[in-house]
Amino acid sequence: MILIDGKAIAEQIKQEIAEEVRQIKLKGYKIPHLAAILVGNDGGSLSYVTHKVKDCEEIGFKSTLLHFEDNISQNFLLNEIDKLNNNPDVDGFIVQLPLPKHIDEQTIINAIQPSKDVDGFHPVNVGKMVLGLPAFISATPLGIVELLKRYRIPTQGKHIVILGRSNIVGRPLSILLSQKGIDGTVTVAHSKTTNLKELCLQADILVAAMGQPGFVTADMVKHGSVVIDVGTTRVPSTETKSGWKLVGDVQFDEVAPKCSYITPVPGGVGPMTRIGLLKNTLQAAKSRS
Ligand code: GUN
Repeated sequence: MILIDGKAIAEQIKQEIAEEVRQIKLKGYKIPHLAAILVGNDGGSLSYVTHKVKDCEEIGFKSTLLHFEDNISQNFLLNEIDKLNNNPDVDGFIVQLPLPKHIDEQTIINAIQPSKDVDGFHPVNVGKMVLGLPAFISATPLGIVELLKRYRIPTQGKHIVILGRSNIVGRPLSILLSQKGIDGTVTVAHSKTTNLKELCLQADILVAAMGQPGFVTADMVKHGSVVIDVGTTRVPSTETKSGWKLVGDVQFDEVAPKCSYITPVPGGVGPMTRIGLLKNTLQAAKSRS
């Protein structure tokens, strides 16, 4: 069994991007600038956004964090998005999800200018991705594809079962993995899928992305398969200083011995999700200069 070290790969890619930024600076081009909007004080979202901003600083990007109270109106937020759309110094920006209930997420996503939508959530970017055209692709699917490539895990003709059909992970990942060049045969399973266990047992590559801690057990996994765990549920813990820890969708201890490759939580897919955002921002900056 080989443990897929997402942390190490993410660090390597960060160094590659940092080198590109050094070259950009040397040539006197504009430094890539990512802005992030955070609404409210959800602990998980605050932590993710803080990490994203820290990543930017580490690799030499400019970053701006706009943090608002959770009682701001939808119109206020739309106005902030408008300002970022029209700010020539900002190459790309994200609005951290989830948003408070009184704000309609799709309305917000639709308001982001597609050329600055470095999360790849806007319908224009999703549509382009489906057609295989150049587009910003959402960070988690991009990170998973990168991990498979860097570990040279064969995907051609393989049966890839994805558990979860979210707009952020399962659905875009299913499109990417079936595209020419990757050539997987993809099944998307979800909460209404029957015979789930039998389906999982057919998977050469099993991707667990439904956000249910410990859902995938050893009896659902074929010997020699590849297991990618996208779960990141925060649960209270006495083992950590913060008082919580991240738990994946896979029962790691019992599943790992059956796998050829597996991603741990934390340190697997998680660190890679931040890399996609940096790559997209670099791309946005390049296409604007
Ligand atoms: N919430 C969970 N993942 C993401 C992400 O990749 N981008 C944004 N904007 N919000 C998220």
